[in-house]
Order: sequence, then C-alpha cells, then structure tokens
Amino acid sequence: MQVVTTPKEMQALALTWRRDGLKIGLVPTMGWFHAGHLALMRKARTVTDRVVVSLFVNPIQFGPTEDLDNYPHDLERDRRLAEAEGVAVLYAPDVALMYPEGCTTRIHVDGLTAGLCGASRPGHFDGVTTVVAKLFNLTLPHSAVFGEKDFQQLAVIRQMVRDLNFPIEIIGHPIVREQSGLAMSSRNTYLKEDEMDAAHSLSKAITHAKKMVKQAERPSPEQIKEAVSGLIVSHPQCIIDYVEIVDRTSLQPCERISSESMLVLAVNINQRIRLLDNSALL
Ligand code: PAF
Repeated sequence: MQVVTTPKEMQALALTWRRDGLKIGLVPTMGWFHAGHLALMRKARTVTDRVVVSLFVNPIQFGPTEDLDNYPHDLERDRRLAEAEGVAVLYAPDVALMYPEGCTTRIHVDGLTAGLCGASRPGHFDGVTTVVAKLFNLTLPHSAVFGEKDFQQLAVIRQMVRDLNFPIEIIGHPIVREQSGLAMSSRNTYLKEDEMDAAHSLSKAITHAKKMVKQAERPSPEQIKEAVSGLIVSHPQCIIDYVEIVDRTSLQPCERISSESMLVLAVNINQRIRLLDNSALL
C-alpha cells in the first residue's frame, strides 16, 4: 500500500489507473479506523480494482467550539489497518495542501442541509461537500462508499453528486455496531466508563421504537419520538440535539410511519461527545 500526501501525486496516480482501465473506489474518512471503516474498505474492494482511502481531518467542517483539535489520530495504526484490508493508497494530505492560501470556493447543497445536524452545526455540510468534491476530483473514483450512520451526510452527498453530475456511484453502507448495539464511531473513543450506559441509550431507544411500530395499533411519529426521548433523557448525561422521524429521501418530518420513515438521533453526552444513530422503523 502506498501512502500519498500530495494532491498532485494523488491525481496523477488516479489518472494512470483510469488510463489502464482500472475501476477506482474511494472511502473518505477522517481516520482513527474502527470496524465500520474497515467494512467500507471491504465493500469498496468488492466493486472496484483499486481502493483509495482518504484520511483527512477536514478543518472546514468543524465549528469553532467543536473537537477539531482533539480529534483522535494515529497515522501508523491506520496505515496498518488499511493495508490489511488490501487498500491500494492511503491518501493523507496536509491541511495546507488541501486548502492552500487563496482557496475560497465552497460547495453548498440547499434544502437537505437546513435541518437536523445542519441546524445545530452551521456550515458543517458546506465543509463536508467541499472536501468530498475535492476528494472526488483528486481520486477520480467510479464508486465512493459512505457509512449510513451519518445519514444526513449521505443524503447531502447523493444530492451534490446528482446536481453537479459527478459520474460516481455513491454506495451507502449499513451501520456497523458494537455487540452492545452502540453504533461504531471514532468519537466513541472519548467515552468514559461511566458514560457507556448513556451512550447505549441511543441504540436501546431505537430497539424500543421498532417494537412500538409492531404493535397492532401503529403509534404516531409523535408518540414514538416522545418514548424515545424519554428513554434517552432518563440518563442525565444525555442532552438531546434532535430526535426526529423523517422521510429517508427528503429528510422532511413524516406524518405517519411507513417503510420510508427513518428515526434519526443526535445526542450530546456530557456536552463533550456528539453521538449519532438512526434506523428505518419498518
Ligand atoms: O464522515 C466523515 O468522516 C467525514 O465527514 C468525511 C465524509 C470524510 C468528509 O470529511
């Protein structure tokens, strides 16, 4: 596996692969790999000939009070893990190379970015779409694989790809969970022992919501949201950012539960750790 650190070298390599008729797969990440990332790499390998994993903690998608400076990192550990998955290139550029002075273009997807995480993290999705578009241009992938834990992010990226005519297949990969049910996330590494019950309340609340919709008389979205919120806030360390039931494509609130309904959750644990989870309800 090669470690590539400059945009120029990355794009030149991707162009060579393209000329040789090879299919390229991209897995964009911010590093600190867990089993969820490794599953994305494996998926990319099954559909392409050369997998590029980008490892870049993208400063422009973090707000001023967020965890950019503390984001966990260990390049050598991630290098070993990616290599073991048969990744061809780990692309790990410096910030100054990705955003040289004078780089002022931002990509904004309207509509889908307004609510949920977009409401509590202003500018976050502009940072995500801008870096993902740059990564697409640098790695020239035929397919790119993203985790479904960041459900809104995936919807926003699909919209950008449609709107800007990127000739790239976007593949969503189901959430990978710990045995306990906790959705895997690099941010789980911040959780202390006495915060684990609070962290587990998200997946437990999802399991409860799924049981509720199986009842003879199907509950309304409001009833489910109330039950889910109640379970989560019974842990005083949890502060809910949102508990919503939205249509999986439009991300607009559902009036009744259908196969298109997604329960989406964002919860702050002790004001330090932002956890996301989601699930279809039927
Ligand atoms: O999901 C992430 O890790 C990031 O938002 C991404 C897609 C790598 C862009 O920085």
